[in-house]
Amino acid sequence: MSSPHRADADRRDSVSYETVDLGVLVIGAGAAGARAAIELVEQGVDPEEVLVIGKRSHGDAHTTWARGGINGALGTHDSEDDWTVHAADTINEGHHLNDPAKVETVTKRMPGLLRELDEWGMPYSRTAAGDIDQRYFGAQSFRRTAFAGDHTGESLLNTLVERARSLAIPYRENVYITRLLESDGRIHGAAGFDMDTGEFVLFEAATVVLAAGGYTSLYDRHSSRDDENTGDGPALAYQAGARLMDMEFVQFHPTGMVGARYGAEWDGRLVTEAVRGEGGRLFNDEVSESKARGGSEERRSPGGERFMERYSPDQMELDARDVVARAIAQEISEGRGTDAGGVFLDISHRDRSFIRARLPRMYERFADLGVDLAEDPVEVAPTAHYGMGGVVVDETGETDISGLYAIGETMAGVHGANRLGGNSLAETIAFGAVTGEAIAERLDQRDRAASDTVADHARVHLAALRRLADSDGTYDPEALMDDLRAVLWDHAGILRDRETLQEGLEQVRAIRRRAADLSVGGLTSRSFEFAMNLTFALDVAEAILRGAAMRTESRGAHARTDSPDEHDEWQRNIVVSRGSLGSMRLDTAPVPEPSDAVQAALDAGFELDYHQLE
Ligand code: FUM
Repeated sequence: MSSPHRADADRRDSVSYETVDLGVLVIGAGAAGARAAIELVEQGVDPEEVLVIGKRSHGDAHTTWARGGINGALGTHDSEDDWTVHAADTINEGHHLNDPAKVETVTKRMPGLLRELDEWGMPYSRTAAGDIDQRYFGAQSFRRTAFAGDHTGESLLNTLVERARSLAIPYRENVYITRLLESDGRIHGAAGFDMDTGEFVLFEAATVVLAAGGYTSLYDRHSSRDDENTGDGPALAYQAGARLMDMEFVQFHPTGMVGARYGAEWDGRLVTEAVRGEGGRLFNDEVSESKARGGSEERRSPGGERFMERYSPDQMELDARDVVARAIAQEISEGRGTDAGGVFLDISHRDRSFIRARLPRMYERFADLGVDLAEDPVEVAPTAHYGMGGVVVDETGETDISGLYAIGETMAGVHGANRLGGNSLAETIAFGAVTGEAIAERLDQRDRAASDTVADHARVHLAALRRLADSDGTYDPEALMDDLRAVLWDHAGILRDRETLQEGLEQVRAIRRRAADLSVGGLTSRSFEFAMNLTFALDVAEAILRGAAMRTESRGAHARTDSPDEHDEWQRNIVVSRGSLGSMRLDTAPVPEPSDAVQAALDAGFELDYHQLE
C-alpha cells in the first residue's frame, strides 16, 4: 500500500477541488460504516489508508435513532433459540423473498458480534445475573432482542466511535458525496463537496464502501430526520451502474408519534416497538361515552377497544409490523381513530419504575412534552421507517461494480418483503464485519485508482455541480422535495393499487421536469443540498413506484388492494438497472433456496406466543 492521504488543490477547467488519495473510502458514518472501518483496521489495514466520511459530526448518524434493540440468538432467557430459528423468523417475516445466504451470515454471526460489542464496552441492559438481557420484539419466536434501555442505536454508535477512535481511524465530517466515479465496471473513488465551505472534494480510492442509509425520508411521514435517509446510498450506486432490488418494499412502523400536542417536529418520530415488547397495548378511540364527557386529548387511560384482538388474536400488538401498521391504518380510516389521526398506545399498566428502567428515553421525551407514560396513553400512527430494498450485493457486500461495496440499509437482500425489528442494527454490524474482512483480504491486490481517469471523470461532474449551484431557475428544490414526499405517501403508501401507482409515476415525472429548472442559492446553501437530495430521490421514487406497479400481488409491506393475495409465481425479486439509454429497467430474478438447517427451522413452525407477556 502506498502513500497516506494526499491533499492538494487542482484548478482545471476553472473547477477547483481538493484531492484525497487513499485505499478505502467509507461513505456513511453510522453503525455499518463504522463497523466496516473497525474491521479493516483490526485485520491489519493501516488506518491512514482508510477514511470514514459523514454529513455530520462524529457519532451523529441515523443509527442513533434506532431504539429498541439489536437481534442475536444468545438465548439469555429462551434456551431453544438459536441462529436457525432467528433465520427462519427473518425469512418468514420477509415472506420468503430474502436471500437466505445473507440471512445466515447475519444470524450466525450475531451472537459472537453481540459479545464482542460487550467487550468493547456496549452498555447493554442486563439480567439480575449480569447476562445481556433480551426482550420480545414483533414476530420473533423468542426473546432475542438485546438492548440498552431504549437507546440501543445511540449506545451502539457511541461504542463503535470509541473503538474507531482508539484505532486512530480518520473521520471527516460535513461531506456530501454527489457521484461515484466508475469506469469499465471498476470503482475509482467519489466526488462531492464540503457542506460548510462549499469546496469540491475528489476522493481517489480503489475501494469504496457505501454505508449511506436508506430512503424512507422520501415519504411525508417518516421516522428519521428530514435530511437523512434521502436515498443517496441506493441512488449513488444506481447512477454509477449497479443494480437495485426490492425497492417497492417500504416498511411502515406502526407507532410513529402523531398529534398536535407533540408539535410538528415530532410528527412521525418513533415510539419504539420496545413499548409493545414490554407489554404496551393499542386501543382505538371508539369510546363515545368518554368522548361525550369532554374529548380524548387529556384522558388518563384509553377506554377504546383493544383492536388487535380482531386482527391478530394470537400475536396481538407484537404481530409483524406490516400487520399492525395496516390494522392501525384501517382503524383510522374507518373512523375509530383519534381526532389527530392516530390510535392510543398505552403501557400505564406497568410500574413506573419498570417503564423508567426499560424505556428511559421514551419516558423522558414524553415527560418533556407533558405526557406521563406511566399514567397516560400516547397517540401513534404508522410512519415510513425502513426501505427493505437497496443495492444488489454478493455475500461479501460487493456490488456489480468491482471495488464498490454497499452495506447496512443501503444494501438489499437480508430482509425480503419486510424486516424484523432489531434486524437492522444486526445487519449493520454483521455486514460491516463481513465486508471489512473481505476488503482487508483483497486490498493489496487492487490496483490504485488511475488518477487521470478519475480526475477527468470528476471534472465534468464538478463543473455540472457548479452550474447547478448557480442556477437561477423557477423552482425551489425544498418545495419539490416536499411535493415528492406527498406523492410517495399518497401513491405508494401502506395500501396501493395500480391506478394510484400510475398516477404517482406521472407526478414524479412532472416533478422531474420541474427539477430541470431549479433556483439554487450557491454551494453552501441549504437549497443546494436539497437540489442534490432531489437528484437522488427522483430515481429512488421512480424505482419504488415502478416496482410496486409491477408486483401484482400483496406480500409483506407491499399491500395491493387490487391484488390482495400473495402469489407463488411472485416469489421473485424485482431488480432495477439502468438501461442502455439511461432509462430505468425492471426485471425479475428467482430467490435462492435456504440451507437444510434453516429449512428445518422453517418446517418446525416456531412462532411468538404473545400471551406469555400478559
Ligand atoms: O421500534 C424500534 O425500536 C425500531 C427498531 C428497528 O426498526 O429495528
